[in-house]
Amino acid sequence: MIIPTQHPDLGIEQLTEADVPEHFAVIDRNREHLAPWLPWVPLVTTPRDVARFIAVSRAAWQGRHELACCVRLHGAIVGGIGIVHADHENECVTLGYWLDQEQCGRGLMTAAVKAMTHWCLTDLGRHRVQIQAAVDNVASRRIPERLGFTQEGLLRQAAIVRGVRLDMVLYARLKSDP
Ligand SMILES: CC(C)(COP(=O)(O)OP(=O)(O)OC[C@H]1O[C@@H](n2cnc3c(N)ncnc32)[C@H](O)[C@@H]1OP(=O)(O)O)[C@@H](O)C(=O)NCCC(=O)NCCS
Repeated sequence: MIIPTQHPDLGIEQLTEADVPEHFAVIDRNREHLAPWLPWVPLVTTPRDVARFIAVSRAAWQGRHELACCVRLHGAIVGGIGIVHADHENECVTLGYWLDQEQCGRGLMTAAVKAMTHWCLTDLGRHRVQIQAAVDNVASRRIPERLGFTQEGLLRQAAIVRGVRLDMVLYARLKSDP
């Protein structure tokens, strides 16, 4: 499955088993960049961990429970984006994302999140797209802010990363938002 973006060289694709070596390599060389914000990073120690993640998330996608995609620039994997939680009854999804440090600062993830949000609100037929970012994760918070999400509140000590409880800012965009 491919989700188009407005950036000519940027694509979003559901991860497959064939992506395991490349996806693992990008995570592996970005550990210091990703680990302060993403609790799963220390759990990914071998390509087999990525293979398991892809298999589990592809099975979950059958029920539209989660979706794991890679972000490709000129065909090469430069990051990940996906639906990390889906609330079917309330037509709401929560997105997660990360980008290769070498590719940061160019608006690539803003373009990817914009495309994924649009796809969730149209093709997937959801009404509400949520993003949670740690209070101090300024680069991540800028993405929903740039894309016109509404900052709805503060979730106190809602995540544990590297043993630290983080306050999370909740952002959301509704299908009915201008
Ligand atoms: C969060 C993360 C993906 C943000 O990466 P990023 O490169 O800042 O985000 P973007 O790709 O959208 O690029 C935005 C930057 O490009 C700049 N930019 C350049 N051209 C741009 C354009 N056309 N459109 C938007 N931004 C553009 C922006 O000014 C911004 O830089 P700034 O923060 O210095 O102002 C990245 O920091 C990351 O992977 N962090 C670790 C994992 C993580 O925290 N994940 C999120 C958990 S909630």
